[in-house]
Parts: sequence; C-alpha cells; structure tokens
Amino acid sequence: MLEILKYPIIQAPMAGGVSTPTLAAAVSNAGGLGFLAGGYKTVEGLEKDIKELRGQTAAAFGVNLFVPGPDTADQQAVEAYRAELLKEAEKLNVSLGAPVYDDDAYAGKIELVRSERVPVVSFTFGCPSREVVQTLQEGGSKVVVTVTSAEEAAAALDAGADALCVQGAEAGGHRGTFSNAPEPQEDYGLLVLLRLVRKMTDVPLIAAGGIMDGAAIRAALAAGANAAQLGTAFLLCPESGTNPAYRQALTDPGFTSTRITRAFTGRRARGLVNRFMETYDALAPAAYPHVHHLTQQLRKEAAARGSAECMSLWAGQGYRMARAVPADQLIRELMSEFQGS
Ligand SMILES: Cc1cc2nc3c(=O)[nH]c(=O)nc-3n(C[C@H](O)[C@H](O)[C@H](O)COP(=O)(O)O)c2cc1C
Repeated sequence: MLEILKYPIIQAPMAGGVSTPTLAAAVSNAGGLGFLAGGYKTVEGLEKDIKELRGQTAAAFGVNLFVPGPDTADQQAVEAYRAELLKEAEKLNVSLGAPVYDDDAYAGKIELVRSERVPVVSFTFGCPSREVVQTLQEGGSKVVVTVTSAEEAAAALDAGADALCVQGAEAGGHRGTFSNAPEPQEDYGLLVLLRLVRKMTDVPLIAAGGIMDGAAIRAALAAGANAAQLGTAFLLCPESGTNPAYRQALTDPGFTSTRITRAFTGRRARGLVNRFMETYDALAPAAYPHVHHLTQQLRKEAAARGSAECMSLWAGQGYRMARAVPADQLIRELMSEFQGS
C-alpha cells in the first residue's frame, strides 16, 4: 500500500490542532504522506479539514481516527482527581470540564472517510472491526492500525488491516494501546517491536517513535519497516499548529526530559515533564476521555496565557533534534540524510 509514496516518510497525525491541513499538504506535495488528525474534532470540522487539504494537494493523504474503548472509568477516582484539580482551575480562573464519556463521533467519522474515499485511514487506541475495515477497503481506502505489542499486531492482522503502524515507547503523544486498563503494560521500544511484528507478517510496517533524522529512518527500515512516521520532528515546522508556548518549551533548556503520564487525559501519553505532570502524574486515574474533558479548559487557558507549566506538551524522546524549518525542507533534509551514507 505504500507504493503511493515517493519517499518512505509519513507525517504523524497530531490531534489538538497540531497537524493542520497546510502541514499535511506540504508533506504530501513534497513526496511524503501527510496526515490529518480526526481525533477530538467534530465530523463537520474534519470534513472541512479534508476539503481544505484537497484544495492544497492532489496527492494522497491520510486521516487518523480514535477507536472508542469501553467506559470503564472509576467515577469515584475521577471525582477525587477533579477535587485535586480545583485549585488549578481557580488559579487560572476557569471551570473544570464535565468528566464525561464520549465515543469521539466514531460512526460519523467512519461514514465521512468512507464517503470521501480518503486514500489512507489509520486508527489508534484500538482495532476497528472487520466490518469497518472491509467497508473502507471496498471504498478504495487503505487501512492502517497502530499497534504497541505483538498481541495488538495479531488482532489488527486478524481484522484485515492493510498495514500496521508499529509505535515504540519513544513516541510523543498518546500510546496507541488498545486497552486503557490501569494495570501496568509493557512499553516496547521501537526496534524490538518492529522485529517481533516483522516475524509475524509480510504486510507493510510503518515505524513510529523517536525517529528524527535520516539515519533513524534507515535504522527503522533495516529492522523491517517500510516507512517511518514522524511526529515530534514536525512540531517546529511553521505549518504546524503547535502553539507559541509549546514551541518555546520544545527548545527551552529548562525542560530536560519527557515522561509517559495519564495526568492530562487519563490515557498514557508522552510529553515534556512540567509542573502539572510532576504534581498530578501519581494522582490521575485511568479514565479516558473523562480526564481529557476535565482538563481541557485548563490546558486551553494555560496555552492562551503562554503558561507551559500547565499545558500538555506532547513530545517524543528525540525532541531536542526537532528542526524549525518548513515541512518541504525537512522532507528534503531527511531524504538527503537517508540516502547519504
Ligand atoms: C503532538 C502529538 C499529537 C499526536 N496525536 C496523535 C493522534 O491524534 N493520532 C495518532 O495516531 N497518533 C498521534 N500521535 C502519535 C504519532 O502518531 C506518532 O506515534 C509519534 O509522533 C511518533 O513518535 P515521535 O513523536 O517521536 O516522532 C501524536 C504525537 C504527537 C507528538
């Protein structure tokens, strides 16, 4: 399915306004595969993004969707977390959101990408049903499922996925794990996971997690991947929707590490360690999307005030290597490094 690509570079879908249609178009026009993030958006908002993207490129692109999980949140734990966060809300003079469950308008978005015949549809947080995979394939879409373990890879292959996005623990943003159960899960590094999954299947594998330059793309391909999906590497591109405080934090030597936390959304995600993460990491329940809704206004207000200590600063372990260059230039630099010795 990756024949559509001139170069083995995929720009990761990045929800929350980061991967804009302009970024995706720039990447697709430069010979990579640009992606729109469907997560958190309304169906209408995503439709608008698809149209905007199509207005800027005739090349193939992808749309990413969140697969909804069951509502397993412990309401008492969520309430206790809400009580802890009240002082942050007071400080920023905002109200906390209602910690409710929703399915991210999954059915409506499936219908949209089907009717729009989106060339590549990728999924995270779970495995779409065989029926959904088949429906999309019948419409001409290629289906990619994000996996973080060999067991998830087996399930995705069983559902009929055309390709797997193999996400290592180095990756910025949310872990794509199917389950959000509170029990600890093993976080596989990218190389070992690529090897484990490559031994299971011949389908195209897309490597994700900590890939920041051409040498790392080569390493991923040597380990069995067919393409590399980069997220953090695009965060400083001018076409990205990365807000100014987030951009600044990525290059601020005061931020010295990343960690995986549930503090912001109730689902495990990697970002720069800041005050909010340090304070609330141990208190946050495994309740997604409840905690996402709870903290949304807080994070938005913090971003508006330029207060990086209270925002989710999603970033992979390689964030120090991110380059503040236009996306087409980044693709050219990555390809020249990839092709060089
Ligand atoms: C800001 C940000 C937002 C992300 N949002 C999504 C998303 O909406 N859907 C998704 O499948 N992956 C998302 N990811 C994860 C990426 O798909 C990919 O796995 C990750 O960026 C790879 O690691 P890297 O950031 O080190 O390159 C996000 C990553 C970042 C950094």
